[in-house]
Order: sequence, then structure tokens, then C-alpha cells
Amino acid sequence: SPSDPDLVQRARAAKEALGDRVFVLGHHYQRDEVIEFADVTGDSFKLARDAAARPEAEYIVFCGVHFMAESADILTSAGQQVVLPDLAAGCSMADMATAEQVAECWDVLTEAGVADVTVPVSYMNSSADIKAFTGRHGGTVCTSSNARKALEWAFGEGAAGGGTADGKVLFLPDQHLGRNTAVRELGMSPEDCVVYNPHKPGGGLTAQQLRDARMILWRGHCSVHGRFSLDSVRDVRERIPDVNVLVHPECKHEVVAAADQVGSTEYIIKALEAAPEGSKWAVGTELNLVRRLARRHAPGKEVVFLDRTVCFCSTMNRIDLPHLVWALESLVAGEVVNRIEVDAETEKFAKLALERMLALP
Ligand code: 13P
Ligand code: SF4
Repeated sequence: SPSDPDLVQRARAAKEALGDRVFVLGHHYQRDEVIEFADVTGDSFKLARDAAARPEAEYIVFCGVHFMAESADILTSAGQQVVLPDLAAGCSMADMATAEQVAECWDVLTEAGVADVTVPVSYMNSSADIKAFTGRHGGTVCTSSNARKALEWAFGEGAAGGGTADGKVLFLPDQHLGRNTAVRELGMSPEDCVVYNPHKPGGGLTAQQLRDARMILWRGHCSVHGRFSLDSVRDVRERIPDVNVLVHPECKHEVVAAADQVGSTEYIIKALEAAPEGSKWAVGTELNLVRRLARRHAPGKEVVFLDRTVCFCSTMNRIDLPHLVWALESLVAGEVVNRIEVDAETEKFAKLALERMLALP
């Protein structure tokens, strides 16, 4: 639906009044009405780098979810302030791993005698606390566009004890990205992976299972990408002959295994750009992005959503034009609303883990 012209006008005026003092970042899953005012758009990796590369901006307005704004605060300098236009824009996946649960998991690994040979690798989609845990234990952050490099690092150069044969990775919080990367990109077998359930004593695993595993996957998932199923893939292949199925690695392993191509949101965008005219694509990721891509490539390339049901990320969608206008106009009036500020101690270790990611080859 078209945006309220009055709000569009107010957003324009506020951005103009702020000039270079504000930098607006927009994740690819944001609404069209918000993307229109983003100075830069990207996946979570690109946005983390872009936020760090804007030292002159006093205010970073992050149109995305809470963990992204936290990461931006960690990577920007002390004088810069990060604003999240709606504080309720969280992420259900990030909420699936709390600091207490992860500390308990580390105790379980210690009891089983495997903590010494385990390196934590945390998906960007996690709280600053989890990133700090990761940094403290010699691990790295990763995103969906560099998960392979992060795992290669964790099993190689970054391995606890210098790359021992029994080295392990504790991957959190997205079990699917962890499994998909280990199996598809590192050639492991699904049996090399075990799932640690934070709601069961000992994670629901025996000490022997932990010793035998190479990948210890946290039992977390994305509620948006988790909805695509093998049936969605079969169904679309039946409906559209010659369709190419392109999915995000947060999808379940069986969906990824049945797809033609797999990649982060930036990868998906580039794959469609490079696709030949006349090609047909079913895309398994968030709907705001898929609809924009369908419009951008019509009529030459056919782009459809992988599933028959709609599936927005409800927390990404919380950032709408009214919230953005409110945040920008408050800044014009000299008031910083909804500031996201990570405490110094957490920041120190979370930054270590984020910088390890940024230094990956
Ligand atoms: P990327 O931006 O890394 O593709 O991740 C997708 C996502 O779910 C962000 O919340
Ligand atoms: Fe979290 Fe999934 Fe939404 Fe991304 S798409 S913010 S992982 S719930």
C-alpha cells in the first residue's frame, strides 16, 4: 500500500535537516516505505561493516532488529549513538539463546571434558551477551554470508589447542545455518552434528555424544525461514516447470538439500541480477524482499515466493514509517530516543568476536 504522503514529506524534511549527522541503515527485510529512506541497504554482514565505516555520523538509525543495532553500537565509536526506531523489533531466534542458558551449556561441555577443544561460533542473530561469551572463549561471530569461512577458521587456525583432530564447534543459536554449512560446505555428515536443547538437563545429550560430535548445534531456529518445507519445494516445482529454487541457509536442511541454490540475502539479490532473461525463480526468504525482487525483475524474470502462505518477519515489520519519522524528528529536536547501548564489559568481548569475523579472509 502506498505510504501516507504527509509522513513521506516529514521523513524527507527530517533527513534533510539532519544531513550527514544521521546515517540510516536498512536491512533487506524492511518494508518498502522504510527502505525508501535508507542511505544504505544490506544483509547483516554488509550493514555491520557499513555502520563501522561511518565515523562522521553522530546518529546511526538502524532499520532492522535489536541484535543488529547492538552490533552497530559495538562497532561504532564512543561518540556515535545508535537508534532502533521501535524497541519491540527483536528476533525470536536471538531470544532462543540466553546468557544463562549458554553459560550452563559451557558447564555441561566442561563436565563432559570437551570445553577445552570447543570453539564457539555465534551467528550474528544473537544478543550482545552471547557474542561476548563467544569472544571470551576464543570464538568468532559469523553471518549467513561468511559461515563457511568462520567454520573453516574455527576448525583450523582458531581451533582450541591449535587445530586438534578432536576439535569441535559450538554453533549458536541457529541449528539450521550450522548444519547446512557443516554438511553442504565442509562436507561433514549430518551424524557429525548433535543438537543441544537448552530446555533439557545436560542439553538432552550424553557425555559420549558430546565427545563424538564435531558440531554441537544450539536448538534455535528462525520462525520465518523455518516455515518453508519440502512440500513447498515440491509444490512449486510442479506449478512452475523449470523453476530454480533459491533459499536462505536458515531454512531446514531438507529444504536446502532440495533447492538449486543457497545463500544469504545479498547472495540471493546478486543471483537474481545475474540470472538470464526468461528464467524462473522461487525464493525462500522473507516476503518484503521477495516482493521487491519480483517487482524489480518483472516481466523479464519471473520471481515468486517459495510458499503459498505469506511469511513476513513480524519483528522486522515493526519498523514502519511512523516509527522512523518519530525517531528522525526526535533527533532533529535534539532528543535521542530508543538508543541502543551495550555496556562496556559486554562490548569489550563482543567486539573481539565481531572483529574476528571482520578479519576472516
Ligand atoms: P542475512 O541478513 O545475514 O541474510 O540474515 C537474514 C536474517 O534472518 C536477518 O535477520
Ligand atoms: Fe530473526 Fe528470522 Fe526475523 Fe531474521 S527473519 S530477524 S532470524 S525471526
